[in-house]
Amino acid sequence: MPDLLAWRSRFPILAKKTYLINNSLGAMPDSVPAALAEYTDLWASEGVVAWDTWLPEVSAVAGILEDIIAAPRGSMTMCQNVTNALAAVLSCLEYEPPRNRIVCCAGEFPTVEYLLDGERRLGAEVVRIGSDPLVFPTEQFVDAIDHHTLLVLVSHVLFRTAELVDLAPIVERARQFGALVLVDAYQSMGSIPFNVMDLGVDFLVGGSVKWLCGGPGAGYLFVRPDLVDRLEPRLAGWFSHARPFGFEPPPIVYAPGISRFTGGTPNMPAYYQAREGYRIIREVGVSAIREKAIHQTQLLIEGALARGFTVNTPLEPARRGNHVTVDLPHAEQVKDELIRRGFVVDFRPGAGIRIAPHFYNTDDECRAILEEMETIARELPAGG
Ligand SMILES: Cc1ncc(COP(=O)(O)O)c(C=O)c1O
Repeated sequence: MPDLLAWRSRFPILAKKTYLINNSLGAMPDSVPAALAEYTDLWASEGVVAWDTWLPEVSAVAGILEDIIAAPRGSMTMCQNVTNALAAVLSCLEYEPPRNRIVCCAGEFPTVEYLLDGERRLGAEVVRIGSDPLVFPTEQFVDAIDHHTLLVLVSHVLFRTAELVDLAPIVERARQFGALVLVDAYQSMGSIPFNVMDLGVDFLVGGSVKWLCGGPGAGYLFVRPDLVDRLEPRLAGWFSHARPFGFEPPPIVYAPGISRFTGGTPNMPAYYQAREGYRIIREVGVSAIREKAIHQTQLLIEGALARGFTVNTPLEPARRGNHVTVDLPHAEQVKDELIRRGFVVDFRPGAGIRIAPHFYNTDDECRAILEEMETIARELPAGG
C-alpha cells in the first residue's frame, strides 16, 4: 500500500485533533489561504479586469474534477451546491403523463427529497422506494423503473450508512425504459474510483466539502455530452446564454454544451479554495485512497463489533463506501464527549456515529477512537 501519510503535514488540523469526519467536512489543505489571497489580490489590483483571469478559472477547476472521474473535457460545470445543481437539472424536465415519474429511495439526503417533493406541484409523481433509510432496496428500486419513469435519482453512497449502491442494474433498466438517471455522488467523489462514462449515468451532481477537501460553496454538475444540447434549463442565467455579453432580451439562446447550466455570476472565492483540495485528491489518486479506506474501514468494523457496538454499514468491502457508522447506547452523547476529547466525528439520528478516515489518517487514530468510545460508554451513567 502506498505511504499516504506523507500528506499529513499539508492538513493543519491533523496536528491538533484526531480528525475522522472526512465524509462531512474534509480537512483544509494548508494552501487554501494562499489560494484565497490569489483571488483577493486579483480583485484588489485588477478590479473588474480580474474577470479575465477568474472566468477561465471556473472551467479549469471543473477540469480537475473531470480528470478525477474521467469525464470528457467540458462536460462538467461548477455551481454552488447539490441543491442548485439538482434544481437546474429538474428545471429541464416536463412532467407529461404517462411519463411523469421520478423514482428515488428513502435513504436520500434531505435536500434532494425536499426538491423532489416540490416538483409534485409541477405534475411530477415522486415514487419513494423503501421505508428504512438504512437499507437500499435494490430489487424493489429496479422494478419500480418503467415506461412511466422520467428520472431515476440515486445516491452512489448513502450518507447515513455508507452503503455503496450498485448502479449497473439501475442504469440498465432505465435505458431499457428510456428514463434518465441522475447520481448524487457527493459521498463517492474523491473516495471511490469510477469513470463517469462507464457508469452510464446522464447526470452527476455533488459538492466539495467532504472527501474532496474543497470546503463549502463549490458544487458541480456533469451532463452526458450527447444529451446536453437537447436540454433547456428553466433555471438559466445570463451566463447560460450563447452571448452573455450581448445582453439580449429573451427568449434565451442557450450556450452550447454544459455552459447553459452556468446560471448567474460564478462563486469565484469558493472555486479558488476548492481547487486546492481537488489538486491533492487528483495527485494522491482515488484508487490509492480507496485501497487505504478498505483497510481502515475493515479495522473500524472489526474493532466496533469486537466491543459489542452495532455497525450500520455493510460488512462486505465492495458494498460500502469509505465511512463506518457505529451505533451504541447514548450515541449522540458519546459523540459530544468524543469531540470534547479531540476526536472529531458526527452523529446521524437513527444511524449512529459516523467515522470517516481519509488518506491522511493513521491506523492508530482508528484504533484510538474505538478505545475512547469504549471508555466513554463505560463512564456514562446508566440511562445516559
Ligand atoms: C449525499 C448528499 N447529498 C447532498 C448533500 C448536501 O447538499 P448541498 O450541497 O445542497 O448542501 C449531502 C451532505 O451535505 C450529502 O451527503
